[in-house]
Amino acid sequence: MEQAKIAASADAGRVLITSEQIQRRVGEMAAQIAADYLDGPLYLISILKGSFVFLADLSRALKRPSVRIEFMAISSYGNEKTSSGQVKVTRDLDVNIEGKDVLIVEDIIDSGVTLTYLTRLLEQRHPKSLAIATLLDKPERRIRPVEVKYVGFTIPDEFVVGYGLDFAEDYRNLSDIRVLGGQ
Ligand code: PRP
Repeated sequence: MEQAKIAASADAGRVLITSEQIQRRVGEMAAQIAADYLDGPLYLISILKGSFVFLADLSRALKRPSVRIEFMAISSYGNEKTSSGQVKVTRDLDVNIEGKDVLIVEDIIDSGVTLTYLTRLLEQRHPKSLAIATLLDKPERRIRPVEVKYVGFTIPDEFVVGYGLDFAEDYRNLSDIRVLGGQ
């Protein structure tokens, strides 16, 4: 992976990954995905809210005949996601994914609790295939192993915002990824 350029910011901290780096990497991921899924519709399932920006760019970069866009929302019981995996679906799919190629689109994988829950849930619906594409991966934080097919950037254990990722619902609109409070 290429080295992220460091830049100063008055607002949300130093840039970890520039928008140019993101766009280049998203293009590479889209090319790989298009090469891996040659036939039939590909269902991209965006997990709200954080993945909406990545989904928008990835889907537009995907050069293949049929790309379907679907959304799900997940929340944890209480305020914390815990190792007990106590998460629940607050918005489910509108479509039947049985026999379909399904790609879960995430902005970040941290503990792995959300994706562990989600993949188990979706597997029960018997898709033809089920895989995960995440822009960011923080493997140091993992408490549940998750098999991820496409990773944009592996990052250290720092609190990042921008490009869909928030802190208290702010900063999702930034076009680059920044370390909150970073110098
Ligand atoms: C983030 C991210 C994943 C989840 C990953 O969502 O979009 O869904 O956390 O964390 P995990 O690997 O520890 O389970 P978040 O809860 O921040 O909600 P948001 O996407 O609405 O910001």
